[in-house]
Order: sequence, then C-alpha cells, then structure tokens
Amino acid sequence: MSVSVYPGSFDPVTLGHIDIIRRSAKMTDKLIVGVLNNNSKRSLFTVDERVEMLKEVTKDMENVMIKSFDGLLVDFAKECGANAIIRGLRAITDFDYELQMAQTNRALYDGVDTIFIPTSIEYSFLSSTTVKEVASFGGDISKFVAPYVEKKLREKYNN
Ligand code: PNS
Repeated sequence: MSVSVYPGSFDPVTLGHIDIIRRSAKMTDKLIVGVLNNNSKRSLFTVDERVEMLKEVTKDMENVMIKSFDGLLVDFAKECGANAIIRGLRAITDFDYELQMAQTNRALYDGVDTIFIPTSIEYSFLSSTTVKEVASFGGDISKFVAPYVEKKLREKYNN
C-alpha cells in the first residue's frame, strides 16, 4: 500500500491546499495531511482548529486522513509508513526553499522521497498569509478559501 504525507502549517487551509490534496490523493492509496504543531511559529489558529478545518473540507475524500505532528517531518513520515512527501510548488520562488527542504529530509532519512506538484494556475498566487491579511481587513476571501474556513476567519477577526 502506498502512503503519502502532505505536510504544512495550514493556517488556515486554502483552496490551493485543497487542490493539492485532491490531486495527490488520486496518486496514492492513503494520503495523510500532517499539520505542524509548532509553538515557535505564531499561528492564527490553534493546531486543533487547523486540524478541524482540514477534516471538514476533506470529508468527501475517502483516502485522506488529517493528523498533527511535532518535531521532524521525516520522523512523522516514518511513523506513518509513508513512501512520499507531497509539496505544492506555486512558482519558481518556492523552488529554492522546497529543494533545500527536500534534500535535507532525504539526507536525514532516505526511505522517503519528496514529490512536487505544481499548483493549479488559478491558485498560484494564494498563500495563507495573504488570505489572513485580506480577511483581517474584512476583504472578500470567498475565492481563496472554502466557505467553512471563511466563516472561521470571520469569527477570528470579528468581521
Ligand atoms: O506550510 P509550510 O509552513 O510551508 O510547511 C512547512 C513544513 C511544515 C513542511 C516544514 O516547516 C517542516 O517540515 N517542519 C518540520 C520540521 C522539519 O522537519 N524540518 C527539517 C526540514 S528542513
């Protein structure tokens, strides 16, 4: 059975992330979305809130599971029995960091390879950071996140 891990901060999950989840879930028997629980990185949503939003927006995807993780990604991948780590690439500007991360992970543990999936063009400009910025000023985020996530952002920013 092939198992893949799609890690990230998902603060919050965007339509770009959902696009990668949907497409990569078709290439593997089981896809585990790994939500980083990182105390040093300030996030708007708690890890439980991020996991809950991901569960909601992926509930129609049978082979997708959501888990949180601490520490090294390769340890999480090992624990999940994953053969692949999935990362989305939006633009060439993502590439340097992603390549460095993929090579570091491979140096730490060669039992897992990173697969890059190009983000669909309509989401290539999207990031959780810009979505939060727009949401914080009460802007229209309906083209960027699922309705459920939009509601959660509105609650956070009281707008
Ligand atoms: O959504 P993000 O913030 O771009 O995801 C980054 C993530 C979670 C994939 C990355 O920060 C990560 O893997 N963190 C876990 C710590 C780790 O394994 N670091 C070594 C790889 S350089």
